[in-house]
Amino acid sequence: IADVKGGPNEGLDRVGQTVVVMGWVRTLRLQSSVTFMEVNDGSCLSNMQCVLNPEAEGYDQVDSGSIVTGASVCVQGTIVESQGSKQKVELKVNKIVLVGQSDPSYPMQKKRATREFLRTKAHLRPRTNTFSAVARVRNALAYATHKFFQENGFVWVSSPIITASDCEGAGEQFSVMTIILFQDFFGKPAFLTVSGQLNAETYATALSDVYTFGPTFRAENSNTSRHLAEFWMIEPELAFADLNDDMACATAYLQYVVRHILENCKEDMEFFNTWIEKGIIDRLTDVAEKEFVQLTYTDAVELLLKTNKKFEFPVAWGCDLQSEHERYITEEAFGGCPVIIRDYPKEIKAFYMRQNDDGKTVAAMDLLVPRIGELVGGSQREERLGYLEYRLEELKLNKESYWWYLDLRRYGSVPHAGFGVGFERLVQFATGLENIRDTIPFPRSPGSAEF
Ligand code: 4AD
Ligand code: MG
Repeated sequence: IADVKGGPNEGLDRVGQTVVVMGWVRTLRLQSSVTFMEVNDGSCLSNMQCVLNPEAEGYDQVDSGSIVTGASVCVQGTIVESQGSKQKVELKVNKIVLVGQSDPSYPMQKKRATREFLRTKAHLRPRTNTFSAVARVRNALAYATHKFFQENGFVWVSSPIITASDCEGAGEQFSVMTIILFQDFFGKPAFLTVSGQLNAETYATALSDVYTFGPTFRAENSNTSRHLAEFWMIEPELAFADLNDDMACATAYLQYVVRHILENCKEDMEFFNTWIEKGIIDRLTDVAEKEFVQLTYTDAVELLLKTNKKFEFPVAWGCDLQSEHERYITEEAFGGCPVIIRDYPKEIKAFYMRQNDDGKTVAAMDLLVPRIGELVGGSQREERLGYLEYRLEELKLNKESYWWYLDLRRYGSVPHAGFGVGFERLVQFATGLENIRDTIPFPRSPGSAEF
């Protein structure tokens, strides 16, 4: 259908051609002399309006009620100019074949089912406009991600899913035994990875610029609209780079992928603009074109202390910024512009971040966007062996288990930096969806792993 209707004149150049459409029946309107059938094949949002006369081969199946909403069909016909106002062209059917029947219990009949209801029908929700559009935009964002890094000379590295190290040191790992019913991983404890960063660092300190893009896991029991137990992360790692290079790369990446979907997913983006978040196209256009705000953590805290706004969590230098603070900063203080906050207190950040000269802060950065808060988290890594060993001891982490990570500082260490983009938060940002569970085909959060 996208092949016929996706062009600039919405299919008018195809008038007179014979085509075959294979897809699923969305609606059926039987009138006395003619039947209108909307078929969707998922290639785009638009349906193909099929016009069936009793002379069409196979019409008896429509007449007898065998072809109903949800059924899969194969329709052959001629593209003609449409009399209706909703589309430029339609299909005048010569032949229709019922490929797979649909039981009358088909649950996608209801017009505009709620997204909560559709989450209980995750196996069928891609048949709806919203979820097919999300799937296509998610795909375009993944494609643009690879395209951006490949065009800039990064090598894609696969990081492992099973690991013994806790990258973030936050104790949010799922033990493998809970997943595959081993007592342990062949005699040693192993977990599902929370991040591919440490592995990416080993490749960055050999191949220069690399990135990972794969599933990661967090055992945080947070039932929020921004957290999943299983989510995808994009983690570039840049060798011979500092925090400024890192922030510049994150900015260029975000602007590139946003521009890509605005240019390549016009129909789906118009849909989100109308039905999910009014004005999202304009807001994303600004993101793609305007400079992001940058400020230090210390300045951000000062800004939060100065406002009259009441927060649930009080603010003081040294506290972790809560999502209400992050949202205030990007939504109210800077009018919806993405904001990068840098140089956080070392106490609230991971062990591997490079200590700044003030001895109190680390070269970390978070990129915040409206509605969602933290979309990207990154840092310059501690490349100095002595500092890193000291930090591991200070945090009482098991230094021995990081021997391989420390080796990278022992043999030709270089300044390097990287960041992690939560892919589902990116999809959420790009589509305007309120809940992160609607951005991934099969969401995994506490209590949901049925299919
Ligand atoms: O800030 P985080 O924890 O950073 C890291 O894991 C680093 N190792 C990244 C790096 O420097 N290579 O996670 C990075 C991003 C967050 O900014 C957020 O967008 C997303 O991952 N994220 C989640 N997304 C969905 N559900 C969750 N439970 C998430 N936790 C983090
Ligand atoms: Mg973070």
